[in-house]
Amino acid sequence: MSALSQKHLIGIKHLQKSDLELIFDTAKNFKDVLQRPIKKVPSLRDITIANLFFEDSTRTRISFELAEKRLSADTINFSASGSSVKKGETLLDTVNNILAMKVDMIVMRHSSSGAPAFLAKHINANIINAGDGTHEHPTQGLLDAFSVLEKFGTLKGLNYLIIGDIKHSRVAGSDIPLLLKMGAKVKVTGPPTLIPKYIEELGVTYEPNLRKALEWCDVANVLRIQLERMDIKFIPSLREYSLYYGINKELLDSISKDITIMHPGPINRGVELNSDVADSKQSLVLQQVENGVAIRMAVLYLLAGRG
Ligand code: CP
Repeated sequence: MSALSQKHLIGIKHLQKSDLELIFDTAKNFKDVLQRPIKKVPSLRDITIANLFFEDSTRTRISFELAEKRLSADTINFSASGSSVKKGETLLDTVNNILAMKVDMIVMRHSSSGAPAFLAKHINANIINAGDGTHEHPTQGLLDAFSVLEKFGTLKGLNYLIIGDIKHSRVAGSDIPLLLKMGAKVKVTGPPTLIPKYIEELGVTYEPNLRKALEWCDVANVLRIQLERMDIKFIPSLREYSLYYGINKELLDSISKDITIMHPGPINRGVELNSDVADSKQSLVLQQVENGVAIRMAVLYLLAGRG
C-alpha cells in the first residue's frame, strides 16, 4: 500500500495499522535525507502550507515548519495573538480567508478539542491536527512510537507505561491507540484524580503504585502536569505530586531493570522529571524531538499525495 486511507490527520484512532506502517517507512527514508549535507528534497515544491497556532508551541511548530522547508513547500505561519481573531473573527472565517490565498494544507493547533475535526467538515484542504485541547496530538504519538521502534525494533509485546496527567493529555490520547494498534501493552499510573474514569475501556490497565508500574515496564513516558487545563484542583500541590509520582535517578536505580524514559516536552524539571534522568543516557527526549521532523515530513508528503 502506498497511500494513506485518510485525507486528513485528525487523530490516530482514524488510522489503520497499514497507515501507521506506511508513515514509519516513509519517515525512515526522510530521516536518511536529514543525515545528508543537503537536507532538502523537492517533493512539495508546488504546495503551500499554513501553520495555524491558536495555542503556544515550541517543538511542534518549529518541527512542522522545518519539515515543510525540507520538503521545499512554501509556508506561512499564523499565531492567534496579533491576528484578527482578537477582533472576533470566527475560526472558519479565518481559515477560509487564508485558503482564499491559494493555500493547500492546514496544520493547526487549537485549545478546543474537536476544532480540526470541525474544520475538516467545512473545507477542502488537507488538515493536520498539531494538538487539539485534551483530545489528540497525532504527530506526537507517531514520533513517540517511531522513537521506540528505532530503539527496540518492534512495538509488539513491549510494556509501555504512561505516567501522570492522563486526564488532560492529548499525547496519551494519541499514544494509547497507536501503541495498542502496533501490539504493545499499555499501562498508566498517576493520582486517581488525573486518570480518566473509563480508562480500562480503552484497553489499558491502571496501576496506582508508581514503583510497581515501573517494575513492569520497558519504556516509561512521563507527562507534564497540565495546570493550564485544570479549572479545579486535581492534586493538593506540585510538591506532593513530585513526591509520589516524580521520576528521579535514585528511584530508577532502585528498579530491577533498565527503563527507557520519554517525555513529550515541555518538561517541568523537578516536578514530573528530574534533570538527573531527563539528561541521562536512559532518556530518549532529544531523539523524540529529532524524529519529529522526519515523522512530520512523512505525514505532509503522504497527505499531499492524497490531494
Ligand atoms: N510536545 C509538544 O507538543 O511540545 P510543544 O507544545 O512545544 O509543541
